[in-house]
Amino acid sequence: MPSYYLTTPIYYVNDKPHIGHAYTTLACDVLARFKRLDGFDVKFLTGTDEHGQKVEKSAQECGVDPQGFTDEVSQNFRDLTGQLNFSNTDFIRTTETRHKETCQMIWQEMLNAGHIYLDKYAGWYAVRDEAYYAETEIVDGKAPTGAPVEWVEEPSYFFRLSAFQDRLLELYEKNPDFVGPSSRLNEVKSFVKSGLRDLSVSRTSFSWGIPVPNDENHIMYVWLDALTNYITAVGYGKDDPEYQQFWPADLHMVGKDILRFHAIYWPAFLMALDAPLPKRVYAHGWWTNEGQKISKSLGNVIDPVNLAETYGLDQMRYFLMREVPFGNDGDFSHQAMVHRMNGDLANDLGNLCQRVLSMVFKNCEAAIPLRPNALHDADQKILNDAYALLEKNRQFYDKQQFHEALKAIWDVIGDANRYVDEMAPWALRKTDAARMADVLWVLCEVIRVVAILLQPLMPQSMSRLLDQIGIDADKRDFTYVSADVSLAGGQPLSKPEPVFPRFIEDEQGA
Ligand code: MSP
Repeated sequence: MPSYYLTTPIYYVNDKPHIGHAYTTLACDVLARFKRLDGFDVKFLTGTDEHGQKVEKSAQECGVDPQGFTDEVSQNFRDLTGQLNFSNTDFIRTTETRHKETCQMIWQEMLNAGHIYLDKYAGWYAVRDEAYYAETEIVDGKAPTGAPVEWVEEPSYFFRLSAFQDRLLELYEKNPDFVGPSSRLNEVKSFVKSGLRDLSVSRTSFSWGIPVPNDENHIMYVWLDALTNYITAVGYGKDDPEYQQFWPADLHMVGKDILRFHAIYWPAFLMALDAPLPKRVYAHGWWTNEGQKISKSLGNVIDPVNLAETYGLDQMRYFLMREVPFGNDGDFSHQAMVHRMNGDLANDLGNLCQRVLSMVFKNCEAAIPLRPNALHDADQKILNDAYALLEKNRQFYDKQQFHEALKAIWDVIGDANRYVDEMAPWALRKTDAARMADVLWVLCEVIRVVAILLQPLMPQSMSRLLDQIGIDADKRDFTYVSADVSLAGGQPLSKPEPVFPRFIEDEQGA
């Protein structure tokens, strides 16, 4: 069985989870589920990034010790995976022993190989980004991200990042798919071409971090610690069969703000360790709320659990993956959400299922019609288009073009609705009952295929839909998207219930 390893960033525990965090993990969840249904053994890792000044400060502000604070906030992120139906197979915390051991091991390896040396750091640091900035990057006294910066002068260990400049450029040249979307690769390349300085990888002015081996004054820079989580989780350096099976990772999913760390520092660290490099890093865009930047100070942070309660979990999952071309920035608005929910879900997909299944229920003795002996051209055309979705979806998913995968599915849903109108099975009922049954079979088969393919995105609703049409639980993976295993017919149908309710403003008190 082929393997697939994908990761989310690990989340800072300075605050509770919001829509941005949910978005990154959701994209990974959809992909993880897709790969599982497509026959892959998937490792799907998420977790929390618990060290560093930012987290230490938040703990201080709450008057709690950092360990107690991170225990509590990390739990919120763990709970979120259940609340949003995420299918991660591991959850890592950087305060776990397994992680501290790996960090200290790789530190020692890099030091022994001469990639780390002791010196002094004098320069700018932004706690909010947990990042160092060069003088030339400072704009109006702030980091290019707008984060406040402070001047830091302290003894520090450095990683010889500058020595990896050529190898990094060669990596991007030889593997143009290393960074997605492709537009972002240029950003990374030009940063590297502009010249890499050695990277400060330890701090002495605070203590909430992993101790540097044999030098108790230093703790590791939080990004060296954090990035290492991806190999901790597969047992790097511990003869773990998971490392053999899953490393290098197939995909690190990240937001555009942290691409530099993943596409430059991380491969350089791995090169220093002589370890294989991840195959791809994909940077998605950022969400705004009704046109405004999301921030705690503006008080407009969107709570993903609230969103799921208001609109429905699968509806929210659908909206986030469909509304915005993956990779671009997007805006969340109530109006856009309701539009998708009532349009794409209730009208297009919901109505297709409801009218087809109700007709079958009423006119075919509440059982799926038997597979026809012969098909008309129009039947064959829509069935072929439905089966062809699998290969199309594979290609889109491998490029993380989730919105394109969905568009392709909705094209078929639209065609199926038109096919219903053209074939008018309600009229055939009186003139040609056999043809009516064939038409309804074709439609049930299209619904079956569409429901199988939409499971990664809307697992709960598609499971209900597949239950409704009597598909056994072990016949829902992608090997069943094929004419060879089309519906035999005869399965009893329970009274159809709408899968996607409309959002009605008044009733919801909106
Ligand atoms: N701890 C680091 C990652 C270390 S990975 C080795 C970190 N954490 S974070 O909690 O600040 O952010 C995690 C992710 O949430 C990032 O991918 C970021 O892009 C994403 N988002 C945070 N706000 C967001 C939006 N408003 N919209 C979309 N995603 C955003 O960075």
